[in-house]
Amino acid sequence: MIRVVATTPFEGQKPGTSGLRKKVTVFQQPHYIENFVQGLFDSLDAFEGETLIVGGDGRYYNREAIQIVIKMAAAAGFGRVLVGKGGILSTPAASCVIRKHEAFGGIILSASHNPGGEHGDFGIKYNIGNGGPAPEHVTDAIFERTKTIREYRIMEADDVDLDALGITRVGDMVVDVIDPVEDYAELMGELFDFDAIRDLFASGFTMRFDAMSAVTGPYAGAILEETLGARPGTVMHGEPLPDFGGHHPDPNLVHAKELNDLLMSEDGPDLGAASDGDGDRNMIIGRGRFVTPSDSLAIIAANAHLAPGYKEGIAGIARSMPTSGAADRVAEKLGVKCYETPTGWKFFGNLLDAGLATVCGEESFGTGSNHVREKDGLWAVLMWLNILAVRRQSVAEIVAEHWEAYGRNYYTRHDYEEVDSAAADALMADLRARLDNLPGTVINGLTVERADDFAYHDPIDGSVTTKQGVRVFFTDGSRLVYRLSGTGTAGATLRIYLERFEPDPARHDLDTQDALAALVQIARDVADIEGRTGRSTPTVIT
Ligand code: G6P
Ligand code: ZN
Repeated sequence: MIRVVATTPFEGQKPGTSGLRKKVTVFQQPHYIENFVQGLFDSLDAFEGETLIVGGDGRYYNREAIQIVIKMAAAAGFGRVLVGKGGILSTPAASCVIRKHEAFGGIILSASHNPGGEHGDFGIKYNIGNGGPAPEHVTDAIFERTKTIREYRIMEADDVDLDALGITRVGDMVVDVIDPVEDYAELMGELFDFDAIRDLFASGFTMRFDAMSAVTGPYAGAILEETLGARPGTVMHGEPLPDFGGHHPDPNLVHAKELNDLLMSEDGPDLGAASDGDGDRNMIIGRGRFVTPSDSLAIIAANAHLAPGYKEGIAGIARSMPTSGAADRVAEKLGVKCYETPTGWKFFGNLLDAGLATVCGEESFGTGSNHVREKDGLWAVLMWLNILAVRRQSVAEIVAEHWEAYGRNYYTRHDYEEVDSAAADALMADLRARLDNLPGTVINGLTVERADDFAYHDPIDGSVTTKQGVRVFFTDGSRLVYRLSGTGTAGATLRIYLERFEPDPARHDLDTQDALAALVQIARDVADIEGRTGRSTPTVIT
């Protein structure tokens, strides 16, 4: 029986860069998740009898939320729900399953790389039939609906046993509990040369993959250890935990320090990799050599043809605006286009659907391709393994050769977390107001060539997205970007992205922060960061 429940709107159910993300305690309020899901269903058309994919990253409140979603999907008239066993589906696996089963869409329960547990964050996002994040007109419509909602509909039914594979029913709707790894692993086997990677491991190649107690543990265990023969113990923190073991499941040098320390030791493994809460981010480290996400994108683009799924070459590259220009240089050499999009994976969707881009990447540790419509952590790791298996060089050698061929884009990101929102807004507003005055000024030895506020004109649907970050370009080719994070849940996070191109191979081995020291100082001065935020140093440097 369908129960119609009276409700009143909650403020602020506005999906951000990647879905609705709030503290667990916010989601636990009675009707909170129901309101959002009803707002979502009310914004969609013609899904009667269709298939919905449901799964999450296993964080605290995942199972409770999934039960609500399933019962509401039944009440809304979906014909079938495919849900990952244990409520588990990584974000890229969900995208894969949506596409493979030609589902209407999918609901992913995740707050990505944000901390989990009772006092951590929770999130919910909707992906459309192409497997990608809902575009802005959909998320805007959901938000509008949540402002006026008066009731929601939910099926009165027992909870589904999420731990038993197979089919049950909720009302008239079929619920199929599926193996969360199977479809995804099969796709990876089609894209990459698993035999070559097996040979690589058999030859003594060693690796550590840090699943950060999050969703990729089961995927990495099945693919790396069981299928590809990596030695047992290759996957560390492999069991998904509701609180991620109290850690911050974000693969970067701060939060995956244990892995990085291992890789920086002389007898460390050949390759280190990590993924985030929901499995879409990745970090790649060779012995003694951290690979920046921007460089990783460029190197993947330059070598993708070594993997069977990309042997015909790539049609184009897409990168988010703050990502370094390293990929642009590869595109130029390959004679393909490099698209520059706003931050947020959803902006790649149209380019991928139209076949204009094959590989995409973001400085925020996201890399992927047209195989799904999300960034994909394990995909990037397998791509690196495939490249290493064919080239039989170390990660450090591959990176060095790449810089020699293309030059090096020194790159770093400085984050100022949890700053006062009003102060952060004022800082950005002030920068925007000064855009016309900056060109021609000389700061700390560098001359500003031009400055703007990035706007994106989507070549496929013609949509325009403005105010995506203040860019300051210098006459020597260096670039500074200021933008506010769209994913934080407390105060504002100011991100500053710094980049300088170095063509001279004799100068490719500098420490990144040293190489960018002048620019760092300029970035602080131009925006008067200390004066406006009271912060003299960034919270996180990556
Ligand atoms: C999420 C999105 C990414 C995006 C990132 C930016 O992870 O999936 O596509 O790059 O957020 O986060 P920010 O905090 O910089 O807005
Ligand atoms: Zn993520």
